[in-house]
Amino acid sequence: MQMIARVKGTQDFIDNQLFYFIKNEFRAHASLYHFQPIKTPIIEHVELFKRTLGSYTDVVSKEMFLISSGNKEDFLCLRPEGTAPTMRAFLEHQPATPWKVYSFGPMFRYERPQKGRYRQFHQINLEVIGSSSISQDALMITLLDRFFHERLGINSYALQINFLGSYEDRTAYTMILKEFVDGLTGICETCAVRKDKNILRIFDCKNAGCQKLYTTAPTMIEHLSEASQKEWQRLQDELFLLSITFSVNPRLVRGLDYYNKTVFEFVSDQLGAQNAFCGGGRYDRLANELGSKQEFPSLGAAIGIERLMLILEQQMDKLRLPQPKPLYVIMSLSAEQNPLALLLADSLHAAKLTTDVLLDGDSLKSMMRQANKMGAAYALILGDEEQQNKSVLAKNMMTGAQEQVNQVDLPSYLQR
Ligand code: HAM
Repeated sequence: MQMIARVKGTQDFIDNQLFYFIKNEFRAHASLYHFQPIKTPIIEHVELFKRTLGSYTDVVSKEMFLISSGNKEDFLCLRPEGTAPTMRAFLEHQPATPWKVYSFGPMFRYERPQKGRYRQFHQINLEVIGSSSISQDALMITLLDRFFHERLGINSYALQINFLGSYEDRTAYTMILKEFVDGLTGICETCAVRKDKNILRIFDCKNAGCQKLYTTAPTMIEHLSEASQKEWQRLQDELFLLSITFSVNPRLVRGLDYYNKTVFEFVSDQLGAQNAFCGGGRYDRLANELGSKQEFPSLGAAIGIERLMLILEQQMDKLRLPQPKPLYVIMSLSAEQNPLALLLADSLHAAKLTTDVLLDGDSLKSMMRQANKMGAAYALILGDEEQQNKSVLAKNMMTGAQEQVNQVDLPSYLQR
């Protein structure tokens, strides 16, 4: 019979040390900046993403995992990202603003799998809902930069920023850009469609010919209104003040449609083609797109955990990974001693000592080999003799020294 393999584009996490290290470090970091953890469901109504991400984005047009639910009218999907669900949750619960929250979890996009690109991947998602101050954008970028640089010790990355202006600026700029593109010959078919449906997307085109044609395209930051220009300047000044190194990329538009004003990406050349390990920006009208009458200007970012792991795997020696606790391995020489082994393990667990029990009745030699592989600090051997005189043979795996210890004294003996 053929084995069943995992679904294409998904991964099994067999060793979770790095994954949990990132999660724990981020938890501590986020709480320092006064962000609260939230959780939202993995399934949502498809409409949530259609309305917010944009129908002509890759995510909505071809990457959604749809779920057929019992109700034919109600189409559900596996969430492709965390911002729209966070805003939905905000509007449903109406917490006080600014609402500063973060969440961890799997996201799903039907993309062509390659290094750093999966169909199920994990994000750390953080959002600030209900703040219009551009200084909040500087604070968010600082939080992220300090996390990557100070907490995780990553040096090899670049921060790219662009400013898309207000929605009005964007509409005016769209006309200017359209005029430019109308004057070009030789753009690809996809860009010909993008030109009419969502012209900013042309800058995402992978076609080298198109990219060359767009090098002289007018940029958004050259066409900002006076008010937007001031905000853009303020953001840059504040980032300078906080010593955040960044470069301006006037062609950065990001793959989702809800952004205005600030957009940014953290990229690393250690990642290959999928070089962005964090991306985000401001989205001042998302609440209204979801039906809110009140405005809730907001911003946020998401970190791709798998991509961050790819970077960290290359510098494991520099990480302050938590040291594993010493392991105690109880060996039951025969099934007769199993009940006693279980009782003894229970007393060690109660004393918060990491303990495993070998219960399969293997030979002492093979159990010692096993304990060695497990990295045990002590082997705790229980045979007939020990059972009778209420002791245990404690063998230090480093020195080879061994001693008979009274069973009642074992926790304090190991804690010395
Ligand atoms: P995004 O740029 O689509 O933004 O995704 C954020 C990050 O998730 C990317 O930079 C990348 O590291 C990771 N990522 C995306 N797709 C994949 C994939 N197929 N495989 C592995 N990693 C991937 C968002 O999702 C926005 N919701 C971010 C945001 C939050 N904007 C405002 N608030």
